[in-house]
Amino acid sequence: MTPVLPSASAQLRALWARPGVVRAAGAHNAMGAQLAAQAGVDAIWSSGFEISTAHAVPDASILTMSEYLAAAQSIAQAVRPVPVIADCDTGYGNSSNVIRMVRLFEDAGVAAVCIEDKCFPKTNSFIAGKQELAPIAEFVGKILAAKNAQRSADFAVIARTEALIAGWGVDEALRRGEAYVRAGADALLVHDKSPTGAGVREFLARWTPSVPIVIVPTTYPTITLAECEALGVKTVIWANHGIRAAARAIGDLWQTVLRDGHTGAVESQIASMSTLFALQGMPAHTAAEREFDRAGGAPTRAIVLHAGAHDADPSLAPLTLDRPLSALDVNGTALLERQVRTLRQSGVGEIAVIAGHAAAATPATDARIAITERWREEGEVASLLAAPSLPDVPEARTLIAYGDVLVQPALLERLLATDEPAVIVVDRTPAPVEPVVRDRVRMPENVTGTLGRRFLAPDAPRPVAAIGAAVTPGDANGEFAGLLLVRSDVWPRFRAQAERCVAEDPRIALPDLLAAWCAGGEPLTALEITSGWLEIRRFEDYEAACRAVAR
Ligand code: SPV
Ligand code: MG
Repeated sequence: MTPVLPSASAQLRALWARPGVVRAAGAHNAMGAQLAAQAGVDAIWSSGFEISTAHAVPDASILTMSEYLAAAQSIAQAVRPVPVIADCDTGYGNSSNVIRMVRLFEDAGVAAVCIEDKCFPKTNSFIAGKQELAPIAEFVGKILAAKNAQRSADFAVIARTEALIAGWGVDEALRRGEAYVRAGADALLVHDKSPTGAGVREFLARWTPSVPIVIVPTTYPTITLAECEALGVKTVIWANHGIRAAARAIGDLWQTVLRDGHTGAVESQIASMSTLFALQGMPAHTAAEREFDRAGGAPTRAIVLHAGAHDADPSLAPLTLDRPLSALDVNGTALLERQVRTLRQSGVGEIAVIAGHAAAATPATDARIAITERWREEGEVASLLAAPSLPDVPEARTLIAYGDVLVQPALLERLLATDEPAVIVVDRTPAPVEPVVRDRVRMPENVTGTLGRRFLAPDAPRPVAAIGAAVTPGDANGEFAGLLLVRSDVWPRFRAQAERCVAEDPRIALPDLLAAWCAGGEPLTALEITSGWLEIRRFEDYEAACRAVAR
C-alpha cells in the first residue's frame, strides 16, 4: 500500500519547528530535485535562476508564470513529501496576479512560495545595476493578498527583501522585514551578495527574532550550518549549485566525446542507465504493472527445451551432429533467434533456454542459457528441473516450449490470452501422419458441421481427456504442439509433480508428466488449433520451415 504522506507544507512547518537549520537545495527539474532529496537535503528551492537557465533565457522575468509553475509542480510531485519552496520572483505582476499565483502553486503541491520586493520585470540579484525595489506599501499589499488567497493553514508565504542587493543597507532591510512580518509573512528571506555576508550578519544581529529567517549564501559559500544557527538563521538555500555542476559536467563531456569521436572515455564518468532507471522509479513502475496492468495478461516467462540431440531421425542428424538444433539456420536466422523473437513480440519477459547437446554452439540471444550436462541420461522434464531457476518473478506464468517448434505469433498470443491453471496447445487437424507416441492427445468429441469433417475449434480451452503414451493410436484425436502454459498459483504444484515423476523415471517426457498431473486430479485444458506451428523433426520439416518463414 502507498503510505499516507503528510502535506509538503505541514512538513516544512515541522522542519521549521524542530531544532537546527533547514537545508534547501536549488533545482530546476524533478531529476535534480530527486538527486538532492536522495542525498538527504531537507527541502527543495524551485529556483527561478535555475529554471531560466534550463530554458537558456535570462533570469529576468522572461519566462511566464506557467513555466515556473510547471517546473515547481513536477519537482513537488517527484520529491513529495520533501517540501518545495517555489521562487516566485515578484509574484508575476501586482497583488491580483499574486492571488492567482498562490492558488495555483498551492494546488501544485508546493509547501511555500517566496516573493521578492523588486519591481516587475525583475532581474537576477547578481546582475549589477537595475535592482529596483518596489515601494514597501505595494509589497505589503502582495503579502496580504497572498496570505488571504491560500486555502490551507500550513501553506507558507516567504517574503524576500532585496534591500541589501539594491544597496539600501541594513536599516532599510530591517524596516522592510518588520513590515512584511506584520503583514503576515511566515518567513523572511534576506538576500545579500557581499563576499562575507556582512549585511546579513548585521541584519541578524539587530533583528528581533520572530519568523524563520532564510538566507542564500551564494557569495559567502563557506558559512557553516553551525554559524548560521548561531546567527539565528533557520533555513539555508544552496540555490544554484546543482545546475552549475551539471553545466560543467555536460560541457566537459561533449568536448571529450568530440575530441575522441566516441564515448568510450566518458563511460566511467557518467551515471549508468540503471542509475537513471532507478531515478525514474522504474522498479516501482514494473511492480505496479505486475500488480495492476490487466492488459495483455499476466507477465510470462518462458523455458525453451533445447537440451536434446534431435538425432532420432537420420535425415536431420547430419545437420545437428556438432550443433544444437537451436543453431539451425532457418532461412538466414538461427532457429533459437526466431523463437526468442516470437516470444518477445508476444510480450514474454524472461526467457531461459535449456541447452545440452553441443551447448557451446547455442546462438547468442538475449535469453539466458542454462546448460544441463545430463541431457543424455535424462528426459526433458529432468533437464527442465535441473536448470537454474529463472529470476524469481512470483506472479509470472511459465510457458514451456519444445525446442523444435516454430510458432506463429498469432498462436502464441491466443495462448497467452488464456487464463487457465495449466493449458496446452493441441493440434486437431485430422492428421495424415500419426503423432509421435508421446504427443498423442485425446480431446472430447469434436464440434462438427453437417459435412462431418468441418471443425470449428472452440474459442475457450476444453479439458484434455487423456495425453501421452497411454493414449492409443485409435483413441488419439489431437497432437500436443509442444506449448504448455502454467499459471503462477499452480506452478509450485506442477513443479512438485515434475520432481516426483523425475524421481521415478529420469527420462520422463513432458506429455507423460502431464498425464501424471491429470491422474492426480489436477486440471489440464487445451487450446485447440489446426494451424500456426511447425515442428522440425525431419529434413523435410526443415525445408518447409525455410520456405515458410521470411528472411
Ligand atoms: C534563484 O535561485 O533564482 C534566486 C536566488 O532567486 S538568486 O539567484 O541568488 O537571486
Ligand atoms: Mg530567483
